[in-house]
Amino acid sequence: MNKAEPLVLGIETSCDETGVGIVRGHTLLADEIASSVDEHARFGGVVPEVASRAHFEAMVPTMQRALDKAGVTLSDVDAIAVTAGPGLAGALLVGVAAAKAYALAAGKPIYGVNHLAAHVAVDTLEHGALPEPAVALLVSGGHSSLLRVDDLAGGVVPLGATIDDAAGEAFDKVARLLGLPFPGGPPIDKAARDGQVVIPFPRGLTGPRDLAEHRFDFSFSGLKTAVARWVEARERAGEPVPVGDVAASFQEAVCDVLTAKAVGACREYGIDTLVIGGGVAANSRIRSMAQERCEKYGITVRVPRPKLCTDNGAMVAALGSHLVAAGAAPGDLGLPSDSAMPITLVTA
Ligand code: KG4
Ligand code: ZN
Repeated sequence: MNKAEPLVLGIETSCDETGVGIVRGHTLLADEIASSVDEHARFGGVVPEVASRAHFEAMVPTMQRALDKAGVTLSDVDAIAVTAGPGLAGALLVGVAAAKAYALAAGKPIYGVNHLAAHVAVDTLEHGALPEPAVALLVSGGHSSLLRVDDLAGGVVPLGATIDDAAGEAFDKVARLLGLPFPGGPPIDKAARDGQVVIPFPRGLTGPRDLAEHRFDFSFSGLKTAVARWVEARERAGEPVPVGDVAASFQEAVCDVLTAKAVGACREYGIDTLVIGGGVAANSRIRSMAQERCEKYGITVRVPRPKLCTDNGAMVAALGSHLVAAGAAPGDLGLPSDSAMPITLVTA
C-alpha cells in the first residue's frame, strides 16, 4: 500500500443519500450517489424506514457504478471507510453491514468514521491538506457546530452548537411554510436571488447576555417562528407573501449569525483557516458572506464545491484516506454503528 496516497473506498448511508466514493490520497476518482429524497418529499422530512429500504436497494448498484467510474476493482482498494454515525440508526446499519461484507470478502481493513468529521475532511479533495489548527463550521440538516480542528485524525474540539434547530432544518421548515419543496435549502437559495433583504428577522443568541453564555452556540427556532408570524400576518391582512424577500431576509439572518460566530472563533483562537462543510455550506450567500468577512481579517476560507457539501461517499473516503495516511488503527468486523456518535470521536 502507498500509505501517503492510499486508495480508499467510502460508504455513506447516514440519511437519505446512498453514497460511494473512491479517492487516492486527496484525489477524487469517483463519487456516486443514489438519493431517496423524492420518496420523502411529500412527508416534508426524511422517513427513516423508507431511507433504510432505499439504501438496501441502492447499495450494490451504487458500489458497482463507483468502481466502474474509478476504473478499479475491490481488490485494488487499500481500505474501506464507512459512516458509523451520527445519523439514522437503521440507515447507518445498512452501510456498516455492507462495508463489513465488502471488507470481509476482499480482506481489506475497515474504518468506521464520524459523518461530521467527514464533512470537514472532504475539503481536502478540493483544496489539499487542511492546515491545522483550523476552525470548522459544520452546518447540515441535522447539525450546526463550530469546531476547533487541531488534528483531524485525533478528534476535534467542539466550541459551540445549535441549542435547538439545525441550520438546514431551519431552511427546510421555512421553505415548507413558504410552499417551497423539500429539502428547502436549494429553493430558498434560488428564491432569495429574486428578493431583497428588507425584513429585519432576529439573529439568535447574539445579544450581549447570550454572547456571554452562548458565544459560539446557535439558535434558529426563534427565527423560524418570526418568519412564520410575519407570513401569517401578511396572509391575515389578505396581502400576497413576497416569497423572494422573505427567503432573502431569512437566509441573510442565518448566514449573518453563522459567519459572524465562525469568524469570531477564528479571531479568538488566533486561527487563520476556516473550513465550512455540510449541506448548508452549498448556500450561495453563506459562501460569499464568509469570503467577504474572512478577507477582512486575513482568514483563509475553504468551502468545497456544492456537490461535496451535501452528503456523499467521497467525504467518507477522504476521511478514511486521511486516517490511513496518519497511521490510525482500523476497526474490526465487530465495529458498531452509533446514531448519536459524538463529534469528539473520529472513529467508532
Ligand atoms: O449535509 P446534508 O446533505 O445532510 C445532513 O447531514 O443533514 O445537509 C442537508 C441540509 C438540508 O437541510 C438542506 O436544506 C440543506 O442542507 N441545504 C441547503 C442548501 N443545499 C442543501 N441549505 C441552504 N442552501 C443550500 N443551497
Ligand atoms: Zn451530512
